[in-house]
Amino acid sequence: MSDEIDELDELDEPTGDDGAGSAAEDVPDTEFPRLLEKLHTEHNFDFRQYKEVSLLRRIRRRMAQLHVTSFATYIHYLDRNADEYKALLDVILINVTRFFRDPEAWNQVRERVLPRLIEEAASNQSLRIWSAGCSSGEEPYTIAMLLQQAGWYDKAAFEIFASDINQAVLAKARRGQYRENAFRATDPALRERFFARDADGSWKISDEIRNRISFGRLNLYDESRVSLLGHLDVVFCRNVIIYFDDASKKVVVSNFYNRLVEGGYLLLGHSESLISLSTQFKLRHLKNDMVYQK
Ligand SMILES: C[S@@+](CC[C@H](N)C(=O)[O-])C[C@H]1O[C@@H](n2cnc3c(N)ncnc32)[C@H](O)[C@@H]1O
Repeated sequence: MSDEIDELDELDEPTGDDGAGSAAEDVPDTEFPRLLEKLHTEHNFDFRQYKEVSLLRRIRRRMAQLHVTSFATYIHYLDRNADEYKALLDVILINVTRFFRDPEAWNQVRERVLPRLIEEAASNQSLRIWSAGCSSGEEPYTIAMLLQQAGWYDKAAFEIFASDINQAVLAKARRGQYRENAFRATDPALRERFFARDADGSWKISDEIRNRISFGRLNLYDESRVSLLGHLDVVFCRNVIIYFDDASKKVVVSNFYNRLVEGGYLLLGHSESLISLSTQFKLRHLKNDMVYQK
């Protein structure tokens, strides 16, 4: 699927008003829960916490590509085509991302979040950063480039963890090789500094940045696995919880709260306010992105 189509998919996503545009296609048939159950038991993906309307639209879109109209037929198709499961995941788990996505948010990180943490960091401890829902890696690499560019690696020790539920995007993240359109929001001078151009026109991240990051598969709902990350100073979880229903958002955000140190930061995407969830986080800066502090 091209990035352009991914982008359209993302814009298509309802931002809170799930009832909007509810058409016949948004009504599940009785086999829909069976499909979700199957994805859970056979593939270890539990999509029951995702917004149902969005899920239905996405799965129906995939079914339409195959000219399948009922969930029962689609389940049958899944059983007979091993690769279909991966295609379905690609449709459900929106993985749109890019380097320095929402540049103003990164300015906030550069000017207000990281300097404060570095100032307060105990000299014998590293600052621990988690990119949760990192997709193909552009977000954690952006963090590492930003730290390198600002010379902060000389002022404090950092550990960057990056995770996603989808192994396919994680494999791409680990490879660290990107096409031109991943850099739409990136200063070309920065790309020259941290990437090498390949013969096929793609750009490969330098080892200097690649080696700063530990990648792993992690489901944000899985509290016992999340707790293995230990204490954290910053959690980036941008453009991920927008796809979850409110009850699930609460679980995930409380997992973040439990992991963050006092004064630690949670950064969400600009349409991912926690206001309606009444969490213990304090809202910090509103300009473009949601920055919360414990
Ligand atoms: C739109 S991308 C966001 C990427 C990046 N954070 C950004 O803002 O550019 C959303 C990512 O969240 C991941 N995701 C969705 N549900 C998840 C879950 N339950 N646990 C972990 N990652 C999840 C998807 O696989 C996808 O790669």
